[in-house]
Amino acid sequence: MRLPARFIAGNLVWAPDGSVWAVFRVEPFSYPWLPHHEKLRLHRQTRAALRVLPSEALVLSLCAALSSRELSRRVAPREGDPTRWAEVAGPAERMASELRPTERLSFLAAKLDALGPRAGAPLLGSAAAAVGESFGLPRRPVGSAEVARKAEQAGHLLSLLQGLLPIRPATAAEVCWIYAGAVRRGLADPALDLPGSCPGTLPGGRANGAVARPSLVALADAVFKEGGLAGDPDRPAHRRYLRVETEAGVAYQALLALSDMPHRYHFPGGGGEWLPTADTAGFPVDWCVRMRPIANRVAQASARRQARQLQSQVGEYDGDPAGTPPGLTEAMEAIHDLRAQLSANPTDAELQATTILAVGSEALGDLEEKVAALRALYATGEYGLHRPIGGQLGLFAAMLPGSPSRPPVRDYVHHLLCRDLAAGMPFGAAGVGDPQGMLLGYCVDAGTFRPVLFDPAYGPSVNRSGSLGAFGALGSGKSYFVKNVVHAALARGGRVAALDRSATGEYARLAPVAPGRSQVVAVGGDSSVCLDPLRVFSGEARVGISVGFLTLATGTSLGEPQGLALSEAVRTVASRRAGRLADVVDVLEEMAVTDPGAEAARRTLRETCRSPLARFAFGSGEVAALDADYLVFHAPGLSLPDRETALREHLARRLLPEQVLSQAVLYLVAAVARQVTFSDPDRFAAALFDEAWYLTASLQGRSLLLDGIRDGRKHNAAVWIVSQHPNDLGDDELAHLLGPRFVFRQARAAAPAALHFVGVEPTERAVDLLAGATEGSCLFRDVQDRVGRIQVLPAMTEELHTAFETNPAAGRRPA
Ligand SMILES: Nc1ncnc2c1ncn2[C@@H]1O[C@H](COP(=O)(O)OP(=O)(O)OP(=O)(O)O)[C@@H](O)[C@H]1O
Ligand SMILES: [Mg+2]
Repeated sequence: MRLPARFIAGNLVWAPDGSVWAVFRVEPFSYPWLPHHEKLRLHRQTRAALRVLPSEALVLSLCAALSSRELSRRVAPREGDPTRWAEVAGPAERMASELRPTERLSFLAAKLDALGPRAGAPLLGSAAAAVGESFGLPRRPVGSAEVARKAEQAGHLLSLLQGLLPIRPATAAEVCWIYAGAVRRGLADPALDLPGSCPGTLPGGRANGAVARPSLVALADAVFKEGGLAGDPDRPAHRRYLRVETEAGVAYQALLALSDMPHRYHFPGGGGEWLPTADTAGFPVDWCVRMRPIANRVAQASARRQARQLQSQVGEYDGDPAGTPPGLTEAMEAIHDLRAQLSANPTDAELQATTILAVGSEALGDLEEKVAALRALYATGEYGLHRPIGGQLGLFAAMLPGSPSRPPVRDYVHHLLCRDLAAGMPFGAAGVGDPQGMLLGYCVDAGTFRPVLFDPAYGPSVNRSGSLGAFGALGSGKSYFVKNVVHAALARGGRVAALDRSATGEYARLAPVAPGRSQVVAVGGDSSVCLDPLRVFSGEARVGISVGFLTLATGTSLGEPQGLALSEAVRTVASRRAGRLADVVDVLEEMAVTDPGAEAARRTLRETCRSPLARFAFGSGEVAALDADYLVFHAPGLSLPDRETALREHLARRLLPEQVLSQAVLYLVAAVARQVTFSDPDRFAAALFDEAWYLTASLQGRSLLLDGIRDGRKHNAAVWIVSQHPNDLGDDELAHLLGPRFVFRQARAAAPAALHFVGVEPTERAVDLLAGATEGSCLFRDVQDRVGRIQVLPAMTEELHTAFETNPAAGRRPA
């Protein structure tokens, strides 16, 4: 067989029959979790895009293997210390290569209509090329004027599609990759990275206007055998397969055409959406839809003829007591619906659409299993897949841009309106996560291993919030997840400041395995270091945070005489060069002579200073070193009221003294974390608050969080909030400012709030899914607002797993 491309320039393909095709790359929409109204919007956009397609077009969706080389390129940080990264990169790459990662790529190829009488004629040289048995590019290239003319035409089509789909012209190398990938389908190691992502894979492919002659000839050189050879191991008697031999080896392909589809389906979720279904198979499935628009007027005339024919068949059953066969009645209804739609939408064309699906394998037995599984998958939705004998090569060729629409493609034509094909969701797929970043997990919505990458610094780099929210019931895996993220952020050269309230020191335990320099600061108790805000901070923050801390610690407010006196005393101390928090008591004593408020404040403050927890701020010890890469404030002694109690009792001023002081210390730590993370805009930094409900419960804690999140993006910093219930955030204000969002297992009653947080409709399916989620399984909404169900991967090494573990009964890595 001869592949249907004789000349490639940029995204343009000259076919042997003289036709010219433009190929575009479309970014697939993350579909499965879109809310109803978004699905309808996407349907409208797709329908509008289908309407503008010229005389022949093809949507091609490829489940491409992601090589470990390409994956490690995406996973490796652009900046930062490579030695730190090497620790995790190796195991990540190994794990990924064992799991055979895939990604789904979408292309739209359209045959450009002929311009004028000469333009459609076969090009010189193509007739000779058509004789040859093997695929090759022409001896005579196409002239630059012709290329420019067609490029302009393709540009015009692109401008029509651009507002409707995330689309761009494919590069010459990508076009070559489509042909080269098709002949390698089914090989265990296709070893063919998508160019552009991995420069140099296709030596001849260059982005603009490049003629990829040598690479295409070499890479797409193949010998095809319809029905295979007698010596093929496990050869099935039906011989409905294609044997493809390339330099890379022999693989077998099965090509199936969509033969039956339900007469009626509703959109969304009512039996349509047959194209994203292919993505749920447990093996790679490529598919394409070939379509030819038929003008509304012509389609109406043809539908009228069909209606007449059907009516005459109905007449044959007149007088038959069994009546008209049900199939005939259904066909009558369908044609009636088609006619009604065509006349109601005179600008809508009818599409003659053929859907082709392809699977491949190196073993024929395995290929048969895949075909059976794919058929079973489609049968549940009443879709039938036919595998024509002797038509395998024809269907294979039909999946390539440039090939003409011949039998067997025409044998499987469905007459659809743009509305109907749009309901098939040709541009919908499963996918979530950042384009590069740590290997966080895989997307469970896809049947194959679809890696989910997450770059904590990605949000700020694209002007989105990098602040993260993760919520889940006890033991659902949120801390394990965030520890994974902490580790990766540090390995990528970032900084993290964490507040660890756990008695076991969950985050402090991470310090020995964390890349870079770590420092654990014990808060309270017999802490040897101190965190005096007057010594730690400078400028306006020095006074502001000291006043905030003291008013919180003494349970006063700035509207009261005590609070005012405190503020004045702090300013006085701050004006001294080596002022300390302990000096505030002395200044208040001096002020007390004339100010009764100062006397009251002094007495309360003296009392406060007696608490061991206060030593952390008032002590004269060494100031904590805050320049470590990983800074942990370990504060197990903090006694904090729960959210409801805090709100209720705070107003009634009935909190216990240690609870009041604990809230103040917490405020101080949060303020330091903010300072640390905002210090260097060239370096990504995050402040992590696990069990964050205690912070959101206090007004000061909340406003610190809000500040950190609001200003974080500009400082290349983020706040990571982890808690049990999304309502722990208080109201939507905080939630709205977060970028990446994760919800893990939730109790059934809490699931709707969690789903609301990630923007997913609280359907029964979604609630069931969250209620039954296993450890590390969650819904992830990325900074681009794509949502997917993911499974967080276990830690990359045994050592890390042990450090992340919180299960008291499981000291070992799960089998
Ligand atoms: N992605 C994962 N892979 C493997 N094991 C996991 C994963 N996530 C969680 N686990 C297991 O589940 C245990 C509990 O997880 P984790 O400590 O993250 O719970 P949590 O949601 O933070 O609970 P809590 O609210 O009680 O703190 C871990 O110790 C680990 O054994
Ligand atoms: Mg936890």
